[in-house]
Amino acid sequence: MIELADIDKTYGVGDVTTQVLKGISFCVEKGEYVAIMGASGTGKTTLMNLVGLLDKPTAGQYRLEDNDVVTLDDEALSHLRNRKIGFVFQQFHLLDRANALRNVMLPLIYADRYPEDAEDRAKKALEAVGLADRMHYNPNKLSGGQQQRVAIARALINDPAIILADEPTGNLDSKSGIEILAIFKRLHKQGRIIIVITHDNNVAEHADRIIVLKDGQIAEDKPIMQPRDAETELKELNNKEGQS
Ligand SMILES: Nc1ncnc2c1ncn2[C@@H]1O[C@H](COP(=O)(O)OP(=O)(O)OP(=O)(O)O)[C@@H](O)[C@H]1O
Ligand SMILES: [Mg+2]
Repeated sequence: MIELADIDKTYGVGDVTTQVLKGISFCVEKGEYVAIMGASGTGKTTLMNLVGLLDKPTAGQYRLEDNDVVTLDDEALSHLRNRKIGFVFQQFHLLDRANALRNVMLPLIYADRYPEDAEDRAKKALEAVGLADRMHYNPNKLSGGQQQRVAIARALINDPAIILADEPTGNLDSKSGIEILAIFKRLHKQGRIIIVITHDNNVAEHADRIIVLKDGQIAEDKPIMQPRDAETELKELNNKEGQS
């Protein structure tokens, strides 16, 4: 489904160019859950931007399903991105002046998709992340974990085959983090590809594969034999809280 071969990415600032990615090759098949790890500045976000069609590689090949991504123009790229990929960021990136429902509807409005039932779809997406009762709240009236769930509902509104998340639990307390990971686990069971960038082993161990970047190259690419199960961990956490 995702096929990267010999990907290079070089940034230029003024006269200075820096090669951030150096010959990255890997494939991700339908239904895989991958964690990408590596030190700060090693190129994780750069890689996510390429996989997410937000940026183009300097060299190399990228196939996404049957599309030769490198040859597509900007319009074709954004069309493909809107339909295939949902993004989740560390900083949520919600519009503060719009309520949760409106935030979730926005991708449909931009894409001019389902104009008649955009609102119904957004409601369903918010229900799916357990926020039916917060639909009319603006982001600044929601906790961090709730804001991240709104962001996930927004990412799901176009029913993407791929979820790309860059440090999705980085700004959350551990319970809210587990709630997010439980949602990811569910989305994974639905057959979606989940790719999570994290520096936290506790997050990465929920994936079934870890790719470690080092200095712009893949240092390690290994399966996790027994991934942690966030849904079970969340239940245990809730039970414990119920007892105390
Ligand atoms: N638009 C840009 N222009 C120039 N240089 C950039 C640009 N974006 C990133 N870089 C450089 O590329 C390198 C990798 O950045 P990137 O954001 O991919 O790292 P990262 O692994 O995501 O780090 P972190 O864990 O801190 O988020 C950094 O040295 C950064 O300065
Ligand atoms: Mg980053």
